[in-house]
Amino acid sequence: MALRNSRIVGLGKHLPAKVVTNADLTRVMETSDEWIQQRTGIRERRYIDQDTGAAELGAAAAREALDRAGLRADQMDLILFATLSPDYDFPASACVMSRLLGVRGRAAFDVRNQCSGFVYGLAIADRFVKTGRAQRVLLVGGEVHSTGIDLSTRGRDVAVIFGDGAAAAVIAAEPDPSRGILSTHLHAQGKYAEKLWLEAAASRSRPRLSPDMLEGAKPRIFPYMDGKYVFKHAVTRFPEVILEALSANGCTVKDLDLLIPHQANLRINQMVAMGLELREEQMFNNIDRYGNTTAASIPLALYEAVEAGRVREGALVCLAAFGAGFTWASALIRW
Ligand code: COA
Repeated sequence: MALRNSRIVGLGKHLPAKVVTNADLTRVMETSDEWIQQRTGIRERRYIDQDTGAAELGAAAAREALDRAGLRADQMDLILFATLSPDYDFPASACVMSRLLGVRGRAAFDVRNQCSGFVYGLAIADRFVKTGRAQRVLLVGGEVHSTGIDLSTRGRDVAVIFGDGAAAAVIAAEPDPSRGILSTHLHAQGKYAEKLWLEAAASRSRPRLSPDMLEGAKPRIFPYMDGKYVFKHAVTRFPEVILEALSANGCTVKDLDLLIPHQANLRINQMVAMGLELREEQMFNNIDRYGNTTAASIPLALYEAVEAGRVREGALVCLAAFGAGFTWASALIRW
């Protein structure tokens, strides 16, 4: 059977209404708007203001993506949910979201690859469609960080960066081999697992959760990040994986219409742009308004780039991610 391509046929997003500015954070921790903006480019982020799980945010984004694709949830052959903040340890948020969408009996699973989760999910969706195992796939990136970060001076280095949100893509078969997802490139290196991680509660500890995990200078129930280390690796891996995607398709940086990098830190993205000698119009960023929404950040930026008219039909678009694991990944798309 001849392989076919897959293509994104609908996008959706959902952000909680509550806006948390840098000034708001100065009320709960010692920080400043200037420090946050200078180091990260973030001005504000969104937090849920009531008990809402990642699946609920994801379902709202999915409904919009399905609407825009002119499809129903029960027409999806596969449902993927990329997240590092699932509603529960188990079952998967993909299952919880399927229930919210009223879908029964479809394959559904989570992709637990943090900031690279959406691109990993896109690679899975693409393979399912390419090999004829699925006609249509729903891929969601959704995160609720605000309930899991240390919103005090102790946790400020990590807490100021992250925000809640979700975005979704519907992926469908594309008969034209020159259109759609041209290739995906996935990498991981577990050597640095503890440079960016959430240690507890976890199966390695007996009991999995104990009072000492809540104590100390860096309580183990909150995410830990060696910020400088992560920064250094990110600015190397991003250009590598972007060039890998371009060269796999016989393209160069000059052919690229738009790069949508993961929104971890504006300074990382600016260094990547400088290294690759990208023109300003070749990169899209929206971290200033949402912070780092991990698995949701790339589809959220893609959605807004399309809305802003930055992705025209036929445009060459590269998605690129780097995150915990470490994992890094890219996808090249002919829109
Ligand atoms: N507000 C004010 N001061 C803060 C702060 C905050 N939110 N967080 C940390 N600081 C302080 C530190 O305590 C330190 O003070 P000291 O010099 O008195 O010890 C000082 O600011 C510098 O901290 P440092 O950690 O060296 O800052 P940095 O320049 O490395 O910037 C990050 C920190 C997190 C912004 C940066 O390392 C980064 O962006 N890393 C990559 C993050 C990332 O991409 N994560 C997601 C991966 S996908």
